[in-house]
Amino acid sequence: MTAKILDGNALAQKLRADFKTRAEALAARGTRPGLAVILVGEDAASQVYVRNKVNACAQAGFHSEKISYPPEVEAQVVLEKIAELNADPKIHGILVQLPLPKHFDSDAVLKAIAPAKDVDGFHAENVGALVQGQPRFIPCTPYGVMQFLADAGIDPKGKEAVILGRSNIVGKPMAMLLMQASATVTICHSQTRDLPFHTRRADILVAALGRARFVTAEMVKPGAVVIDVGINRLPDGKLCGDVDFGPVSEVASAITPVPGGVGPMTITMLLANTLEAAEREVA
Ligand code: GUN
Repeated sequence: MTAKILDGNALAQKLRADFKTRAEALAARGTRPGLAVILVGEDAASQVYVRNKVNACAQAGFHSEKISYPPEVEAQVVLEKIAELNADPKIHGILVQLPLPKHFDSDAVLKAIAPAKDVDGFHAENVGALVQGQPRFIPCTPYGVMQFLADAGIDPKGKEAVILGRSNIVGKPMAMLLMQASATVTICHSQTRDLPFHTRRADILVAALGRARFVTAEMVKPGAVVIDVGINRLPDGKLCGDVDFGPVSEVASAITPVPGGVGPMTITMLLANTLEAAEREVA
């Protein structure tokens, strides 16, 4: 079997065309969707992600602001900025790029964001709403994964879904969404015994553990849908996912590539959340 490649760039383009139209409709009513991105420190990957987020806003006709701080900035300065953005009518979404430097209490920073502007969906109030099945904002990466499945006509209902990774950003919200879509969900992590036992049962396998080419063909059930959330840099500078793409694509029925899979969809769903926040305000 050779897997269908789930093209994140193509799907992102399709969705973003719709967002642009909706943003224009809002602009005609005097509101331009606005996103503020806060970056603390000099992490190279975070700088690239933030730049991509800001550029995506510009292309979709959104207003955006990037606020950068040196790594040694005091937490209070960032908290005051968040309070200012919470009250700023030009801003509908606020995102603090993670990870923050070690001297920050990340939970306290995320809780300082007004829940109605928390476009990452990381605030405890929004996590609670998601768990209760009434999400205000769906975290961008798992939201993007669900869009892939919907676009490819893959209904999780009754399927075995196995997630590798239990992070707040991907693994946990991914599990909630797949469970709410009526899949039977297993979350695996670094302490899981006999990982291949679990992965080989998966009809839908989501890899979000951050280890290059960790998922091999032997770990995948023939015909499975494989979603690769990993972005790892190889010693030669090339990017690769958590899945050994070539051999796994001979076994799976559908697979996302890296780059060009989940990555563009994560940013797209950030635009979706920002737009939804602006639309809610105008409604
Ligand atoms: N760092 C890695 N992924 C994310 C994300 O989705 N949002 C934020 N804010 N930081 C991240």
